[in-house]
Amino acid sequence: MPTQNDEYARPARPPDTSSLAEVLAAARKCTACHLYKRATQTVFGEGPKNAPMMLVGEQPGDYEDVEGKPFVGPAGKIMDRALEEAGIDRIQVYVTNAVKHFKWEPRGKRRIHKKPNSREIAACRPWLEAELRLVKPKLMVCLGATAAQSIFGPSFRVTRERGKVLSSKLAPRVLATVHPSSLLRQPDEESRQREYKRFVSDLRAALKAAGEA
Ligand code: URA
Repeated sequence: MPTQNDEYARPARPPDTSSLAEVLAAARKCTACHLYKRATQTVFGEGPKNAPMMLVGEQPGDYEDVEGKPFVGPAGKIMDRALEEAGIDRIQVYVTNAVKHFKWEPRGKRRIHKKPNSREIAACRPWLEAELRLVKPKLMVCLGATAAQSIFGPSFRVTRERGKVLSSKLAPRVLATVHPSSLLRQPDEESRQREYKRFVSDLRAALKAAGEA
């Protein structure tokens, strides 16, 4: 039975359907973990059902929570710029997150992002599985450790594996790279530019891999 316990989580149960709209409607009512209580809404993935590439982030942030769309805040803006530079049209890509509710804690008037834990990621995973089952992308791109670890397990290290085409049970071809928000946290302009270029180069590798599949 659901409790008020913050740790409470059980796997979500997406409907068995070929309609993304029906899965989205069910996800909007998800109470599989406690995160729905503080979030404004479920932020489900968006993009074409036949997208050749699926980008998976960690969880919606403050802006996404309010707008109800993934990657529309500062991290999304830098990601969009990098996608364009890599020759990838965001409109053609399916964009989603490993966790579909914004996890945050109050600090004064601000809502501070909190990293989802393994139980929350596991509770939300059936939604990601449903998106993968319906979209069947040629390539899944994990943006950052949370997305990559939700696919490959907690010992996966993005720093070791970034830019390589890997395989998993969930998606035959997966490429992991850094989360775009890590570019915003670089300590100086030089490292910001260097890391941005590496990110664009990983996205170019993703475009090539999606084309080859
Ligand atoms: N960070 C994410 O991982 N996903 C979003 O949608 C926005 C920021």
